[in-house]
Amino acid sequence: MQIDPLARRQHTTSPDTPPAFDEARLLDTQRAFDSVAADYDGPRGNNELIQRMRGTLWQTVARELPVGSRLLDLGCGTGLDAAEFAQRGYHVVASDWSPEMVERTRDRAVAARLTSRLSAVHLGVQQLHLLGGRFDGIYSNFGPLNCAPDLGAVAQECARLLRPGGTLVFSVMGRICPWEVAHYALRRRFGRAGVRFGRGVQSVGMNGHTIWTWYYLPREFYAAFESHFTLGSYRALSLFLPPPYMVDRYRRRPARYERLGRLDDRFGGLPGLRDMGDHFLIVMHRR
Ligand SMILES: C[S@@+](CC[C@H](N)C(=O)[O-])C[C@H]1O[C@@H](n2cnc3c(N)ncnc32)[C@H](O)[C@@H]1O
Repeated sequence: MQIDPLARRQHTTSPDTPPAFDEARLLDTQRAFDSVAADYDGPRGNNELIQRMRGTLWQTVARELPVGSRLLDLGCGTGLDAAEFAQRGYHVVASDWSPEMVERTRDRAVAARLTSRLSAVHLGVQQLHLLGGRFDGIYSNFGPLNCAPDLGAVAQECARLLRPGGTLVFSVMGRICPWEVAHYALRRRFGRAGVRFGRGVQSVGMNGHTIWTWYYLPREFYAAFESHFTLGSYRALSLFLPPPYMVDRYRRRPARYERLGRLDDRFGGLPGLRDMGDHFLIVMHRR
């Protein structure tokens, strides 16, 4: 892995820099996540509903890639997944566009004495061309790739960074989330209810900031990757269960909602159902 050149280059302007419009949006998104990094391990970023989806990604990565594999985490947040995989014996490079998030991942690696297997780098998915090295697997959890202005460029860089036969495991925010439509429509917030159906980039508020977000159907997402990757599988995450911001419902009736969680586990991979949900989890293999 070559990170030093990156450290010198990532703040300079070059022909590699994205157009100014994208850059302004990327900075909005960065500020939004910087602003929540301090409490991201609490209910906002790691509540029961999130942990349930996190568990599915952990199982999927473990099934696809043997312990000892070299992994790249795109949009690592505070490093919860990266630390888990490093603890299990994987070698992880964790990256994120928010410097505050990266700082927390570094602190986590030091506190857990995992620095020999876990390093963190301040790098946006739009800057992957600055990263060197070769990986067996690349994963991304809870939507960092929904913030990428050019998904095709991300796909191309993933193809460069991944060994032939290597694996991608991504959890991505989908377009069809019945819970969300019902939740906002009942409150007569029809614009918010339909935000995921919008074409192109959408502005989504968080903590007084804006996250610029692209939503995808699984097939729209895969289209950006298909020239370099075959489709392994995909499944819905939190289709029967509500999205994480409705965790209060879950807390009032955990047993009832756990039953819905079991429906997600059982039926989330079925044709038709797998195209819906708060997120989808997609697995692809380098050709
Ligand atoms: C919902 S959080 C998920 C964090 C982490 N993967 C997890 O599972 O807890 C989304 C993360 O994506 C990061 N992010 C947003 N835009 C990004 C970009 N352009 N490049 C890389 N990371 C980005 C944010 O800083 C944030 O840490």
